[in-house]
Amino acid sequence: MDKPHVFITRRIPDIGLEMLSEHVEIDLWEEELPPAYDVLRERTQRADGLLCLLTDRIDKELIENSARLRVISQYAVGIDNIDIESATKRKIPVGHTPGVLTDATADFTWALLMSAARRVVEADTFTREGKWKTWGPTILLGVDVARSILGIIGFGRIGQAVARRAKGFDMRILYYDNKRLPEMEETLGVEYVSLETLIKEADFISLHVPLTPNTYHLIGEKEFSMMKKEAILINTARGSVVDQEALYHALKDRKIRGAAIDVTDPEPIPSNSPLLELPNLIITPHVASASVQSRTKMAVMAAENLIAGLQGKRLPFCANPQVYEK
Ligand code: DGY
Repeated sequence: MDKPHVFITRRIPDIGLEMLSEHVEIDLWEEELPPAYDVLRERTQRADGLLCLLTDRIDKELIENSARLRVISQYAVGIDNIDIESATKRKIPVGHTPGVLTDATADFTWALLMSAARRVVEADTFTREGKWKTWGPTILLGVDVARSILGIIGFGRIGQAVARRAKGFDMRILYYDNKRLPEMEETLGVEYVSLETLIKEADFISLHVPLTPNTYHLIGEKEFSMMKKEAILINTARGSVVDQEALYHALKDRKIRGAAIDVTDPEPIPSNSPLLELPNLIITPHVASASVQSRTKMAVMAAENLIAGLQGKRLPFCANPQVYEK
């Protein structure tokens, strides 16, 4: 019997491709940049399964025009690039990769937080530019992390992992989420507060919400105006959770001390973006989950999801389990 045909929109770690090659016939997009939408649509039309990335727009039109498509497997935990409603309507299960990138993302959140607090990137540039003439009492002063207040917005796996790391710094930890988690409050010693209280009281604000219509521009001009003057914002979630124009003004006018973001809107950030001129902003290219271990596990999970879907089995990690309801 012919093997099912799958389109894979970018080279993933070898282990995932090896697992798949036993079961499927692979059509692999080998370029560094994602396929253009037309190519994506055309190649997906021929596929029984699709393994895609967060850079691919899997919209209603694409889903409705891919008659053969039986499973979508996203190589990421976030699925905001996929029209889940259309997939569910067509009973196509959508797999994703929760859990395996929690530690990598929490570690990177802390790397950004520490770098912004202690101005690590500025200090490196200062040194390389030959500005280090002597030790000085007021050169490149940052702020203490220990015993400060951390506000975590979105208290799922990654938000909780960030909180666990904060305990070593004796921080007071505030969290806000749609759901209150009394058990976590007890085990992690975190305090549930309203979004407004968190924004007003935290020294460091870290975002860990998925992008949905409710979280689009969750942090905008009003929120920046309520933050402490010394506040530092960290975003490893999705770029459009923050209104970038408001972020620009908050940083430029020194309404807040700084920010460190791993995600932008759009991605990549245009090379003429005024954000790139701000010394009190650190920007990294969406690499929070980019550890060898985490990206390898993501490849395994994405392959497992795809194979299960093609074999008519329930996906081990399904983002739209409603497809299994009768
Ligand atoms: C995800 O999995 O959603 C991450 O953003 C990828 O780094």
